[in-house]
Amino acid sequence: MDNTFPLDEPPSLSRRQLLNFLTGATVAATAGSALYPVAKFMVPPTVAAAGGGLLAKDKLGAPIPASQILAEPPGTRALVAGLAGEPTYLTVLDDGSIDPMGIVDNCTHLGCTFPWNPLDQQFQCPCHGSRYSPDGAVVRGPADRPLKLTRVEVRDNAIWLYPWTETDPRTGERPWWV
Ligand code: FES
Repeated sequence: MDNTFPLDEPPSLSRRQLLNFLTGATVAATAGSALYPVAKFMVPPTVAAAGGGLLAKDKLGAPIPASQILAEPPGTRALVAGLAGEPTYLTVLDDGSIDPMGIVDNCTHLGCTFPWNPLDQQFQCPCHGSRYSPDGAVVRGPADRPLKLTRVEVRDNAIWLYPWTETDPRTGERPWWV
């Protein structure tokens, strides 16, 4: 009886596949562990840990540092890309901070965007003439609801935007968009 083990036989196909798999997995794990810290450093955070917050961004999609907005004089309304891509006005306050109340640039009449008029201190919709006070309350129709709000928080020079779900300070009631 032949009890010798055939050392010079090529590995079976399944054994070769296993070796290929293990080699591939090792290479992938090594490359992944080396590239992860680099990717984490290069890609800015986009979502807060809780509350559905997003970073305010410019029109190219890059996060806007708070210092860039605060370099503008008090009273400035800076337009940023907000939650769900909604254009949102951020206001520079007299004390050198950013107003925690962001104003969504979407007319509550039929959805036009509108500019801030610094002379009249109003948001003025060019489509049908609705006007809003600096806090987004209706001054003149046909719009009959205040502008949607976004909660603004500045942390470590980053501007975080959150859905406004608390009482609407202009009406003292539950927001119409919640
Ligand atoms: S869409 Fe703004 S007034 Fe009609």
